[in-house]
Amino acid sequence: MIIFIWAQDRAGNIGKDNKMPWHLPGDLQFFKKTTTGKTLVMGRKTYESLGKALPNRKTIVLTRDTSLQLADADVIHSREEVLALAKEQDEAIYIAGGAEIYRLFMDVADKLIVTKIDATFEADTAFPEVDWENFTEVSREPHDKDEKNKYGYTFYTYERN
Ligand SMILES: NC(=O)c1ccc[n+]([C@@H]2O[C@H](COP(=O)([O-])OP(=O)(O)OC[C@H]3O[C@@H](n4cnc5c(N)ncnc54)[C@H](OP(=O)(O)O)[C@@H]3O)[C@@H](O)[C@H]2O)c1
Repeated sequence: MIIFIWAQDRAGNIGKDNKMPWHLPGDLQFFKKTTTGKTLVMGRKTYESLGKALPNRKTIVLTRDTSLQLADADVIHSREEVLALAKEQDEAIYIAGGAEIYRLFMDVADKLIVTKIDATFEADTAFPEVDWENFTEVSREPHDKDEKNKYGYTFYTYERN
């Protein structure tokens, strides 16, 4: 099973200057809770943006650079290697971005977990086009803004029809 997880603003943007455009602790906690103990796949730029693999998760970094070695992550070089892993392991694989990597796996995503933030940010990277006709919303969990979270946000889950 291949599960996408991301956060976007009202305009569908996800990044700026190889960083997240917002600081939203409620979403970071949700990401941690959802992905702890799981396998995460991310592009080399997203890995660099984080600066390290996130703790208590198996991290797989996609790059075309065959000389890249990382102490805290597995490095792979093709979509096929990810698909082979998804087939052989029972546990789901979480695709954690960025835009290039979401685009690369869009046609095989079984489930989409998206945080929609009730604000618009300056950005240079948007989530790729989704054919929403192929997906059905199965849950949503809204959160108001509060002293820690400057914007309201809603966690949505969609499953492929
Ligand atoms: N809001 C969110 O939920 C969220 C989540 C994740 C990331 N982001 C943001 O998204 C932005 C980064 O996204 P991005 O699209 O620029 O970069 P990215 O998807 O993180 O990484 C792109 C890199 O992945 C590698 N790659 C891509 N296709 C490949 C393929 N077919 N085979 C092997 N390697 C491949 C290449 O690495 P090499 O150049 O090394 O070959 C490419 O440069 C940042 O701003 C980040 O903060 C946001």
